[in-house]
Amino acid sequence: MGKYLGSIVLSVLILGVQTANAQQNLAQQASLIFEQSCLGCHGPHGSFTENLVIESAQGLIDSGAVVPGNPDASVLYTRLLHPDPVKRMPLGEQLSPQAIQAINAWITAGAPSWEVQHDAKFITTDEMLTAIQQHIRTLDAFDRPFARYFTTTHLYNAGESLEALSAYRVALSKLVNSLSWGFQIVNPEPINTAETLFYIDLRQYGWDERNAWPQIENVYPYAIAFDAKTQGSHLLKYTFLQGEMRCDVPFVHVDWFLATAALPPLYHDILALPDTERELERQLGIDVERNLRNAPGIRVWRAGTNDSGVSNHNRVVERHTFQYGAYWKSHDFAGSAGAQNIFTHPLSFERDGGEVIFNLPNGLQGYYVADGLGNRIDVAPTEIVSNPAASDPAVRNGLSCIGCHTEGMKTFEDAVRTVIEQTRNPNFNKPHALRLYVEQTVMDDLLEQDTARYRTALETTGGVFGGIEPVHRFVEKFQGPIEAPSAAAAVGLETQTFLTEIEKKSSLQNLGLAGLLSGGNVKRDVWTDQFQDIITALNTPEVIRPEPEPTPDVIIPDPDPITGVYIPDRNLRAVIAGRLGKSVSEPITRKEMARIEEIDLEERNN
Ligand code: HEC
Ligand code: HEC
Repeated sequence: MGKYLGSIVLSVLILGVQTANAQQNLAQQASLIFEQSCLGCHGPHGSFTENLVIESAQGLIDSGAVVPGNPDASVLYTRLLHPDPVKRMPLGEQLSPQAIQAINAWITAGAPSWEVQHDAKFITTDEMLTAIQQHIRTLDAFDRPFARYFTTTHLYNAGESLEALSAYRVALSKLVNSLSWGFQIVNPEPINTAETLFYIDLRQYGWDERNAWPQIENVYPYAIAFDAKTQGSHLLKYTFLQGEMRCDVPFVHVDWFLATAALPPLYHDILALPDTERELERQLGIDVERNLRNAPGIRVWRAGTNDSGVSNHNRVVERHTFQYGAYWKSHDFAGSAGAQNIFTHPLSFERDGGEVIFNLPNGLQGYYVADGLGNRIDVAPTEIVSNPAASDPAVRNGLSCIGCHTEGMKTFEDAVRTVIEQTRNPNFNKPHALRLYVEQTVMDDLLEQDTARYRTALETTGGVFGGIEPVHRFVEKFQGPIEAPSAAAAVGLETQTFLTEIEKKSSLQNLGLAGLLSGGNVKRDVWTDQFQDIITALNTPEVIRPEPEPTPDVIIPDPDPITGVYIPDRNLRAVIAGRLGKSVSEPITRKEMARIEEIDLEERNN
């Protein structure tokens, strides 16, 4: 593995971690190289720990393997260049020149620790909103309605390590591009120096055509409704963003997005996957019947196995060539008798379900699961396929596939062709079957091409081929309980400020947050359910006051598409109209909005 991994790791890093702190960059690079190429043998649970344990930078220094500032005196470095292959590390291989250079640079810089968390300077909500506001202003007004943002600011504020933050970024790139009908891989673009805010253009992924963002907004639980009285300046900025982007939710949390958009229903909705496998094939321009009839060995190939890695019974895999690359479908069975026997019915078996992997236009993969009738389902029935190694054995569309098909295609051995060859008087068309169930080498070549296509695309997202799968990693993490720093960061507060609020307000304690005061945690589902109430409670003083008089309904006209500003919040609209000396029902223009912002700025500067 070492040979190519080193250079991949490095290119990931060059793309991935251009954070302010160069020392930490070097440490992250070194740590990733160790993770990819050394930990199998020298990690805390490695097979050669008696020779060397790589756990922390300090540990390496203490053991003498690394002499800070002096690579040539560091056995950990000299071993990378050792002329004797038996002594050179990683054993039996050699790192890429870039990776060796990275280790050299790290030691030269004093072998800084990779475990350090960033020097946690809290990014305030105001700083975050300002950064997005400034970025959107750099865009042409025509493009602003297609801009959206993702944020890891709350994770950064909660003290996430740089390694995790850069892995979140890779996971985001991988998922966004795996939900894309765009022709190219386009990575979300960091817009602030801490690299916690990422910009996307909906059109790059075909999300404008498929109305993807409103579906994300519909289920997004963590939008903060800023309070017009106490958070007027936040609200003004947020409303500005909503107006420019013409949307309700201008940005979403990356960790929530990974955990939600990788699974149905959002996974299906964003990709707009149709209700039946046949319709999917029609949309992709694949005529399965005709391919099987006319073009076995030319546009369609099959292999069958009775030793599947996921299916409990026989399994047939079938590859069609189409405009974006490969369309693979599996035929899965709940039994192996009669028409479920692929060895006696290689052309006419009756399947109980199927799974599909197809190339997206950008080279990554889309996934689909169908029942016996070809209707789309969210979860494969466990009696047909399951993942016995996982804590949850159910195979769910999207996430499960992404988590296991980390290298795109999976290899398999065909067992059907040999049986067909040996069948003397079959009750099926033997020459046709032999054209379809091709030699293993033919299938292997196709599989190799498809793997290469996926690999190129994946590496463009910054992902590591065959490395730790980042989407899956963070989904599991997201589902775990939340501790005070993460909870505080999610509502935009520093930990102590948040804890003080909980101490003060019985309303917050009653929302299940009392446990945080004594170092406990909140379950994710509870937190999500209560989130909006928590925000309200934070904005509401302890004293109970009478309900305000309801404001009479006024008709708000649609804003002029070119000069107008859209302000969905009724109260804010009233405040702004008031400051402009207008009535609530009069349209507000961009110009007037800009004036308000200037006044606001002046007031704050005075
Ligand atoms: C396949 C297992 C394997 C991998 C992978 C591997 N090593 Fe080793 N390493 C060994 C074995 C076995 C020894 C002991 C043999 C020897 O000293 O030559 C060793 C010895 C060493 C030593 C010498 C320790 C000492 O104090 O004598 C260093 C340093 C070292 N490895 C560093 C690394 C680094 C850095 C990597 C990753 C770039 C790495 N190794 C990857 C198996 C491995
Ligand atoms: C636990 C690992 C695992 C999971 C989860 C998984 N697969 Fe697979 N998949 C495999 C293996 C292993 C093969 C190779 C054939 C075999 O052994 O069955 C394969 C093969 C396939 C193939 C044939 C093409 C190829 O790569 O060989 C398709 C199509 C497929 N899987 C679709 C899916 C879809 C869709 C999902 C998600 C719903 C999914 N798989 C989830 C392990 C998995």
